[in-house]
Amino acid sequence: MTRSYRIATIPGDGIVPEVMAAAVSILQNLADAGGKMDFEFTELRAGDGTKARTGMALPPETLAEVKRADASLFAAVGETAKEVILPIRQDLDLYANLRPAKVYPNVPHVRDGVDLVIVRENTEDLYKRAGYGTSDWGVALRIITRKASERIARYAFKLAEREGRRRVTAVYKANVLDMTDNVFLDACRGVAAEHEGVSYEEIIVDACAMKMILAPEHFDVVVTTNMFGDILSDEAAGLVGGLGMVPSGNIGDERAVFEPVHGSAPDIAGRGIANPIAMVLTSRMMLEWLGEKEAASALESAVVETLREGKHLTPDLGGHARTQETAEAIKKSLVAHF
Ligand code: NAI
Ligand code: MG
Repeated sequence: MTRSYRIATIPGDGIVPEVMAAAVSILQNLADAGGKMDFEFTELRAGDGTKARTGMALPPETLAEVKRADASLFAAVGETAKEVILPIRQDLDLYANLRPAKVYPNVPHVRDGVDLVIVRENTEDLYKRAGYGTSDWGVALRIITRKASERIARYAFKLAEREGRRRVTAVYKANVLDMTDNVFLDACRGVAAEHEGVSYEEIIVDACAMKMILAPEHFDVVVTTNMFGDILSDEAAGLVGGLGMVPSGNIGDERAVFEPVHGSAPDIAGRGIANPIAMVLTSRMMLEWLGEKEAASALESAVVETLREGKHLTPDLGGHARTQETAEAIKKSLVAHF
C-alpha cells in the first residue's frame, strides 16, 4: 500500500526557492523510485516578499496549512524571520530544535570525527521577545521555566538512547545568569538521574564555544537553552563545512517543521550557486520523522556518494557546480541506492 504524505513547503526568501525546488524534486524522485510513498506538496507564502505584497509576513492561511500538513519544509525568510519562524515554533509548540552537525567526505572541516547533535530549547528564553524599551534603552526578558527545561532535557536523553549516543552535555551560564540557568540545570540533573545508561556532564557556554573548536569530537548530544543553541549551532556548522551543509528540525509532540540552519543568504541569492545539501539533509530528517527510515537512509547515502565523487560541489565547498547540478547528481545516485 502507498503511504501518502501531505507536505507544506514554504519557499521564503533569497536562495530558498532555489534550494527548495532542488529538495522537492529529489523527494519526488525518491517517491517515484520507491513506489511506496507519495507526496502531495502544497506551496505556502511567507517572508519578506509576502509582507511587501500583502502586508503580512505570515498569512493566517499559511499557519493553518502548516497545522493541517503531515510535516512541513521551511527554509529561511529574510528580515521577517522573527515574524515567521518564531510564531510557527511557538504556536505549534515545536519545543525541540534538533541541529545535527556531522563531517561528510570531501567537505572542508576543522577536525575529523565530528558527529554531534545540538538539542536546542525552541519556545522560550529571549526568543519569547518579552521586554520593553524606548529608542534609547531596551530590556529583554530571558524566560526559562522548569517545564520547558525538563521537556527538552527528556528529549535529549531519549534521543541519546534511541541513537545509541553515549553522552549528554548541558550548556548553561548559571555562574552569572543564576536566576534562569539554575532552573535549567536543576531540570537537566533531575532528568539525567532517570537515565543512568547515558553519561551526563555540564559546561559553561563560553568554555563550550572554545572546546567546540579545540575538541569538537568530544561532543555527542548537547542540550541547551534557545539562544545558546542558536549560536552554538552556527559554530558547529562551521566545523563541518558551513551553513550549506547543516539541517535542522523543529519538533513537537505531534507536528514538525524542518528547516536548514542557514538564512536567506542574500549575498548569493538568484545566482543558482547555493548549496542544496543543507535542504536535502533537512528533507532526510523529515523522512526519518515520518517513519520512512529506508528512504531517509537512501537519501543520505546518495548525498555521501555525490560528495565523495567530488565532481558536483558548489562554490562554498570549493567546487564550481550549480545548485541544480548538485541536485541532479544526488538524484542519479539515488537510483542506485533505492
Ligand atoms: P545566512 O545563513 O543567510 O548566510 C550566512 C553566510 O552563509 C552567507 O555568506 C551565505 O552566502 C552563506 N550560506 C548560507 N546558506 C548557504 C548555502 N545553502 N549555500 C552556500 N552558502 C550559504 O545568514 P545571514 O547572512 O546572517 O542572514 C541573511 C538573512 O537571513 C537575514 O535577513 C536573516 O534575518 C535571515 N535569517 C533567517 C533565518 C530563518 O528564517 N530561520 C535564519 C537565519 C537568518
Ligand atoms: Mg541561527
